[in-house]
Amino acid sequence: MESLVLDIVTPNGHHYKQPTGLFINNEFVAAASGQTITSIDPATDKPIATVHAAGAEDVDRAVHAAKVALGHASWKKLSPTDRGQMMAKLAQLIDQNKELFASIDAWDNGKPYHVALNEDLPEAITTIQYYSGWADKTFGQTISTTPDKFAYTLRQPIGVIAQIIPWNYPLSMAAWKLGPALACGNTIVLKPAEQTPLSILVLATLIKTAGFPPGVINILNGTGKDAGAALVAHPLVDKVAFTGSTATAKHIMKTAADTLKNITLETGGKSPLLVFPDADLEQAVKWAHFGIMSNQGQICTATSRVFVHRAVMDEFLARFRETVTTTSIVGDQWDENTFQGPQVTRAQYERVLQYVDIGKREGATLFMGGEKAVVADPKNRSGYFVQPTVFTDVTDEMRIAREEVFGPVVVVLPFEEEDEAVRRANDSTYGLGAAVFTRDIQRGHRVAAEIEAGMVWINSSQDCDPRVPFGGVKQSGIGRELGQAGLEAYSQVKAVHVNMGTKL
Ligand code: NAI
Ligand code: MG
Repeated sequence: MESLVLDIVTPNGHHYKQPTGLFINNEFVAAASGQTITSIDPATDKPIATVHAAGAEDVDRAVHAAKVALGHASWKKLSPTDRGQMMAKLAQLIDQNKELFASIDAWDNGKPYHVALNEDLPEAITTIQYYSGWADKTFGQTISTTPDKFAYTLRQPIGVIAQIIPWNYPLSMAAWKLGPALACGNTIVLKPAEQTPLSILVLATLIKTAGFPPGVINILNGTGKDAGAALVAHPLVDKVAFTGSTATAKHIMKTAADTLKNITLETGGKSPLLVFPDADLEQAVKWAHFGIMSNQGQICTATSRVFVHRAVMDEFLARFRETVTTTSIVGDQWDENTFQGPQVTRAQYERVLQYVDIGKREGATLFMGGEKAVVADPKNRSGYFVQPTVFTDVTDEMRIAREEVFGPVVVVLPFEEEDEAVRRANDSTYGLGAAVFTRDIQRGHRVAAEIEAGMVWINSSQDCDPRVPFGGVKQSGIGRELGQAGLEAYSQVKAVHVNMGTKL
């Protein structure tokens, strides 16, 4: 077991000793697969640590652990109030370790440390806290039928849940998935993304400390094609909850069909942001910038298509250039001036630069950016840094206007009429987020109703709150996470018919 323990110091001085095994039945164990994953610091292109990675045999073991835990009295008979308190304790433990979590996620993912600490961590903590409160507030109904009969419903867990999460918000994506699943009494096998396997190991340690019985939450690092695919195919898994690319989601849906698994999918987007001529332009520019350039543009809901009314286009562009120039400071995770860190992996970095080439070849105008960003510190010369990039003279048919880039790249398109703007905004296979900038209250609500998206922001972008449902329409997903709606994804209703009489 010694070889499982990692002893590292983060670049900002956090020392931690961490087992790197698979977390099954509340113990860190070596992977039977013999596979490992080496995590890379995207700012330096240097390895951080190597962790165990699950194969099919390990997946089978973890799923069985979750299945046993589901029926075990320590979980099944735990009162919902006690279950909620255990969750609240976990939230408290994450809070007590928030600097460590932020350091690891910044290092592993590339996001600025201050962003991880002040945005990702509060999101993860409040999500678990929020759902801890729901644990004893989800129950069924009593339904009157005839004078002699009635029925009632029980709200029960779905069972063993496979949760597959991405790398863009490692800890908060785990919290979004764990919170509602635990509140509803399910058991879990969670697979983090192979690009960011580290912070979840610290979380596993805290899960044990919080008092969760063995097998309730199992965590398997591993690749999508091995651990992910084996989880989705496993016959004892009752549900798959996934966040990631639309292509992988389609694959998961097909595999899940073999055993008719319940699924929740949160996938890609090409979310529009509409700026009407009556908008507060300063606000529109500020949010348009935040909506695509924050988190290195690696946001499923990124407002990556900005439609600007022709009357205000010149002014919008001038102000947007100014904001990008002064705000989007590119640097490493540890510099407190950094707004934009490196892209998460070399593959994502190359993908972003490829899209820049595609845009240029399609005839769009590179308004700003479009190159590798060179940062001052020599140790970061091999980092995956990209300049914040803006394209103009873009048409709706161009690939850069239709496909998800998942980087700090935005297309700005002019429009003239409200109907036209809505029609073009909706002309997408995706439907995740959408933003509307206007001072006309009627227009704001009218457009919000007409736009094909799971979330609409009026005079804002990217608001996300554990109390509010989140999800997509069209090819952006199936089902909702967060809020009360998030409980629907992790519970099922059983109807019990009661005969109080002797007649038919
Ligand atoms: P991905 O969808 O392949 O990976 C997401 C998760 O799915 C990871 O945990 C991965 O291991 C797992 N996975 C991959 N193949 C699987 C399979 N066959 N069965 C089960 N699980 C599997 O996304 P990737 O490759 O990391 O990024 C590619 C693109 O996906 C990005 O450029 C971006 O466009 C999109 N993406 C969207 C995200 C979102 O928040 N909606 C997050 C991450 C990526
Ligand atoms: Mg990494």
